[in-house]
This record gives sequence, structure tokens and C-alpha cells, in this order.
Amino acid sequence: MTDLDERALPMTDSGILLAERPSVGRATIIGGPPPGAATLEAKGACAWFGERLVLEGVDLIMPAGQVTALIGPSGCGKSTFLRLLNRMHELIPGAALDGEILLDGDDIYATGTRAQQVRMRIGMVFQKPNPFPAMSIRENVLAGLKLARLKCDEKDDLVEQSLIRAGLWKEVRDRLDSAGGALSGGQQQRLCIARSLAVQPNVLLMDEPCSALDPTSTRRVEETIDELRGEVTVVIVTHNMQQANRVSDSCAFFLAAENQPGVVVEQGPTRKMFENPDDPRTLDYVEGRFG
Ligand SMILES: Nc1ncnc2c1ncn2[C@@H]1O[C@H](COP(=O)(O)OP(=O)(O)OP(=O)(O)O)[C@@H](O)[C@H]1O
Ligand SMILES: [Mg+2]
Repeated sequence: MTDLDERALPMTDSGILLAERPSVGRATIIGGPPPGAATLEAKGACAWFGERLVLEGVDLIMPAGQVTALIGPSGCGKSTFLRLLNRMHELIPGAALDGEILLDGDDIYATGTRAQQVRMRIGMVFQKPNPFPAMSIRENVLAGLKLARLKCDEKDDLVEQSLIRAGLWKEVRDRLDSAGGALSGGQQQRLCIARSLAVQPNVLLMDEPCSALDPTSTRRVEETIDELRGEVTVVIVTHNMQQANRVSDSCAFFLAAENQPGVVVEQGPTRKMFENPDDPRTLDYVEGRFG
């Protein structure tokens, strides 16, 4: 094998080639999502809390296997938009929505489509790491599987794969039975990523996943996002412009004028959004002149 061949193979976080580890093929989950990344598309998405329209007419394509960053000042509807994307918005009393959210062309709000099924295909990682503190690391990784009543005959493999993909394996492989709550904040966030990845979703939504983390943990999570590229569609909300620039392929800039609903001002490839966007407000925002 030449050096070039070796570089082309995926590495684990422990620096071991995945292809050299027969135990780390992709574990099969019975009843789980179809394999691979999926394209998510919002068409005319609107959201209300009670009478108040907070998000209006969002059209956005989040291509399969790419990383899309949602940026914009506080209160412009980024988290609300993220919750529209996996049917969590409807869990809030008084919340309403309009428009379409298409997952590989199918409307996730179509009659007969179950929210739980959608959330299995479109996972979510929150700002504050939320592992089950008393459960072991292993149980935490398998928790989503249990909740969705999915069957997997290769649980050890699945735990290992999910922790490798989340960039945490090397740090926890000798203590899988320790409590999830005993990990550092950055490790807990990666454990939550592993838990989301264990059901093998097509899309992963991340709402400011690094805002509570130190720079080293932030870097690890960013590496994880980079490694997921191609395999999973990632949609990440971040207030950190360097992070948006580093991790995303494309960006959408959300903005809400005073007492007005949030809208997407501009969207496009990340480089263009940071170097020569069409709207002057985009450049002002990414260069830190407001927000
Ligand atoms: N549960 C709720 N009930 C009522 N209004 C809400 C609720 N959640 C959010 N809002 C309102 O909806 C608007 C959009 O909020 P959202 O949390 O989506 O903004 P955001 O862009 O994520 O902000 P931040 O960057 O601060 O997280 C805000 O005006 C907010 O006050
Ligand atoms: Mg938010």
C-alpha cells in the first residue's frame, strides 16, 4: 500500500485505519433509517408562537453530506428554524408552522408521517450537553436505540463505532461502564453526538454545540463535524464566525428587524458569504460590526 492509498482510508481518532479493524464495520440496525446522508429542504417555512410570527418564508436547501451553518444575531429564529426541521417545534404549546420541510423530497409533515420516525432520521444535539448522568457511557450511546425500540445484534460494535465517529472512543474505551455524568463538559457533548449517531441518522442538527466548551473541546467537536462530512448532513447554528467559516460548506444568514419575524437575508457558499456577499448586512455581520 502506498502512502497515498493509506491517506485515502478513513482514520479513527486513535489513529488506526478503520479498514484494518474488522470489528468496526457498520453495525446493522433493524428498523433504522435508510443508509446515507439526505438532503433537507425548507420551502416557505414560517413559525408562530401564539399570535406572534417569528420566522417568515424561509427557503433553504441543505445538501446531502454537506455542513450548513445558520448564522445571525440573537432572537432571529435560528433555533426555531432548527426545531422546524425535526418536528420539535410542534412540541411547544401554542406553536404553529406553515410551509414544507422535505427530506430527500418527502414532506416530514405529510399526513401519516410520524414525528418519532422523523426525529430518528434527523437527530439533534443541543447547546448544553444532556447525557443521562446516572447511565453508563455505553448505555448513553445506546439510549436512542432503546427509545426508538430499534434492534441491533452488534451492540458492542455500534457503541465503538459511534464513539469513534464522535471522536471520543480513545478517551473512554477503558471505562464504558462509568457514569456519563462523570465526563468533562466537552466529553459529555461528544457523548451526546455519539448517542445521536448511534441510530445512524441521515441528518444531524446542532444548536450551538460548542458554546459551553473550552477551545480544545471545541476543536475536537469541529474535527468530528469534519469527519461526518459526506456521511451525514449537518446543520449547525453558531455565533462563532470563525467556527462557521472553518466547518461549513454553505451558510444562511438570518436576521429579524425590530418587532419583525426572522427571514433569511442571504445564503450561499461559505467562502462567498465571508468574502463577497451580495447583501451589505451579511458582510457587516460576519465582520462583527453588529449582532
Ligand atoms: N417557547 C417560546 N415561546 C414564545 N416565544 C419564543 C419561544 N422560543 C423562542 N421564542 C421567540 O422566537 C424568536 C426566535 O427565537 P429563537 O430562539 O429561535 O432565536 P435564536 O436565533 O435561536 O436566538 P439565540 O441566538 O439567542 O439562540 C424570539 O423572538 C424568541 O423570543
Ligand atoms: Mg438559539
